[in-house]
Amino acid sequence: MESPAPAAARARRPLPSPSLLVLRVGWLLAALCLRPGLGLHTVNTVYGDTIVLPCHLEIPDDLMFGKWKYEIANKPSEFIAFRSATKKNVQYDDVPEYKDRINLSENYTLSINNARISDEKKFVCMLVTEENVFEQPTIVKVFKQPSQPEIVSRAEFLETEQLKMLGQCVAKDGYPKGSLIWFKNGVVLQPVDGTVAIYEQTNLDKASGLYTLVSSLEYKPTKEDTDAQFTCTVTYFGPTGQETIRSEPVVFDIHYPTERVKIEVVSQRNTIKEGDNITLKCSGNGNPPPQEFLFYIPGEPEPIRSSSLYVLIDVRRNASGEYRCSLTDESLMDSIIITVHYLDLSLIPSGEVIKQIGEALPVSCTISSSRNATISWLKDNARLRSIPSFSSLQYQDAGNYICETTLQEVEGLKKRQILTLIVQGKPQIKMSKRTSTDGLYKTVACHVEGFPKPAVQWTSTGGVINKTEETKYINGKFTSKIKIAPEENVTLTCIAENQLERTVNSLNVSAISIPESDELEEKTDDNRENASDQAKLIIGIVVGLLLAALVAGVAYWVCMKKSKEANGEPEKEAAQNIQNLPRSASKHVDKDLGNIEENKKLEENNHKSEA
Ligand SMILES: *[C@@H]1O[C@H](CO)[C@@H](O)[C@H](O)[C@H]1NC(C)=O
Ligand SMILES: *[C@@H]1O[C@H](CO)[C@@H](O)[C@H](O)[C@H]1NC(C)=O
Ligand SMILES: *[C@@H]1O[C@H](CO)[C@@H](O)[C@H](O)[C@H]1NC(C)=O
Ligand SMILES: *[C@@H]1O[C@H](CO)[C@@H](O)[C@H](O)[C@H]1NC(C)=O
Ligand SMILES: *[C@@H]1O[C@H](CO)[C@@H](O)[C@H](O)[C@H]1NC(C)=O
Ligand SMILES: *[C@@H]1O[C@H](CO)[C@@H](O)[C@H](O)[C@H]1NC(C)=O
Ligand SMILES: *[C@@H]1O[C@H](CO)[C@@H](O)[C@H](O)[C@H]1NC(C)=O
Ligand SMILES: *[C@@H]1O[C@H](CO)[C@@H](O)[C@H](O)[C@H]1NC(C)=O
Repeated sequence: MESPAPAAARARRPLPSPSLLVLRVGWLLAALCLRPGLGLHTVNTVYGDTIVLPCHLEIPDDLMFGKWKYEIANKPSEFIAFRSATKKNVQYDDVPEYKDRINLSENYTLSINNARISDEKKFVCMLVTEENVFEQPTIVKVFKQPSQPEIVSRAEFLETEQLKMLGQCVAKDGYPKGSLIWFKNGVVLQPVDGTVAIYEQTNLDKASGLYTLVSSLEYKPTKEDTDAQFTCTVTYFGPTGQETIRSEPVVFDIHYPTERVKIEVVSQRNTIKEGDNITLKCSGNGNPPPQEFLFYIPGEPEPIRSSSLYVLIDVRRNASGEYRCSLTDESLMDSIIITVHYLDLSLIPSGEVIKQIGEALPVSCTISSSRNATISWLKDNARLRSIPSFSSLQYQDAGNYICETTLQEVEGLKKRQILTLIVQGKPQIKMSKRTSTDGLYKTVACHVEGFPKPAVQWTSTGGVINKTEETKYINGKFTSKIKIAPEENVTLTCIAENQLERTVNSLNVSAISIPESDELEEKTDDNRENASDQAKLIIGIVVGLLLAALVAGVAYWVCMKKSKEANGEPEKEAAQNIQNLPRSASKHVDKDLGNIEENKKLEENNHKSEA
């Protein structure tokens, strides 16, 4: 059996390059052997296959027998098979190498099972007649494809500036002997002095006759080789020509020294404020990256040896400054400036503050900050236009004041303080009366002012009266009203009391039959029975005179009350003297006095008109 390949190879046969010369020898032989005239046949067989050797001779009519032998240079030829043409029997010679491997068919084709490298011989078919011996030789070639080359004994890593064994390329059990070539990123690696060194080695397995090729590569990488793919190929001849098998690519870890260190703050935010944790990260650009650094922290006398992360917990403003890091040998340094933002707010006074009505209260809210910040004020959650400050406190000044400030540039930096202002005042009473338009009842109102909210109680000369109506308590004021239709003249008393004081005021209401002269008559409080705060004040002011003043006052009040009961103006002046009543009291007293006179006159007139 002839392979068509040798003819094709011969046709395009180029001048073999020196490096491939060895490889090509077998091939050339195969080609040469087929030249017409030489009469040599060649059979190419794959290792392990069956070698089929046709005899290539006309079978003569007077053939006695056919024989196969093989020839090895400088040795006598060896017969291996015999077939008698007349007896039709086959006989195999006792050659150990071919025992049980050969079969000589009737047409004198010799087949050899399980082709081996040692089968590469010249086999000769002999046909013998009575007069003649015909011989026809056939060359047997055996091919064995090597295993896929594999890069073994790989270096764990390579280092720049170091020529180091990268690995060995191994292609096992090939025949004929192929050759190995190294590639980096698909480009052939040629030996370069001091950078690339290649050592080749061929191992012949004596038993099988197969070659194992080993090529060791020493390589000095650069940083750019970091992701380079190293491969190797084996080039060999198969029965149909030259073939190449490539190894799997291998990438090597390239180690190189750090040339630059970098310090940075690891944070989601780009600003740092007091109370934050700062995570400093130091890194080097070497491979493998350095694991340890020295951190130079402001205020720390010695640098701190740490892994690449260093955490400062709950920083204060004094942590602002320059932070540096270096490699542990103190070479290669980097630094970063860190600013810890802060915002202090001081509200004076703050918390719950209790003040008396009319008192002054200066308020200040000051800030200290790492950046400009503005202050805003809220009172009971409503924004205030101006900064609150009180020269004379009113009930409506009471409330929750919030001084608030924000640093716009620093996320989450916001401070606030609260002032809860309570304005207290003793109860003050004004009374008024009005007759309904239909004249059926009279409405008497007690206008009360004070904080905490005074409790109001009514009494009349006729007994306790139930309140009928009370307005809302706003800004320390409310009004308690009653409706009455008295059969006779009554004196109504309104009593307002809170923790500070109990205040009493009375108003004369004439019988329902008598219209009131002054419908909107007003009457202010005229008596304060309790003197808690006022008394304390007096104690403070006139410590020595207190007892004398009280005794004198009480004595005078008793006298005056008695004397005034006669002239209808009993308690007012007395109260004034004892309690040192507020300014308006005397005015109202005068007014009330005037009203009484008028009332009398008016009532007289009414009587006259009624009559
Ligand atoms: C030789 O071949 C013939 C026919 O192909 C077969 O019958 C015989 O068993 C073979 N002998 C051996 C030893 O393989
Ligand atoms: C010779 O015989 C074998 C097996 O019997 C067969 O395969 C082959 O084709 C024959 N060869 C020729 C040239 O007749
Ligand atoms: C700072 O770190 C400490 C400890 O790890 C942690 O308890 C605290 O919550 C952190 N503070 C902030 C603002 O993340
Ligand atoms: C910064 O101030 C805090 C107190 O606010 C103090 O405990 C700490 O030691 C100071 N740190 C430095 C570096 O001065
Ligand atoms: C902060 O305040 C200073 C002085 O009051 C002023 O000169 C500066 O422009 C302000 N900066 C900003 C960002 O408002
Ligand atoms: C006041 O109210 C109480 C109960 O609400 C009632 O018993 C009493 O009679 C009422 N007094 C007057 C004067 O209306
Ligand atoms: C009731 O008061 C009026 C004046 O307001 C007076 O004229 C009248 O005499 C009084 N009646 C009694 C019974 O006191
Ligand atoms: C109310 O009337 C009585 C007598 O009816 C008199 O003594 C008293 O002074 C009057 N009070 C006021 C506040 O007018």
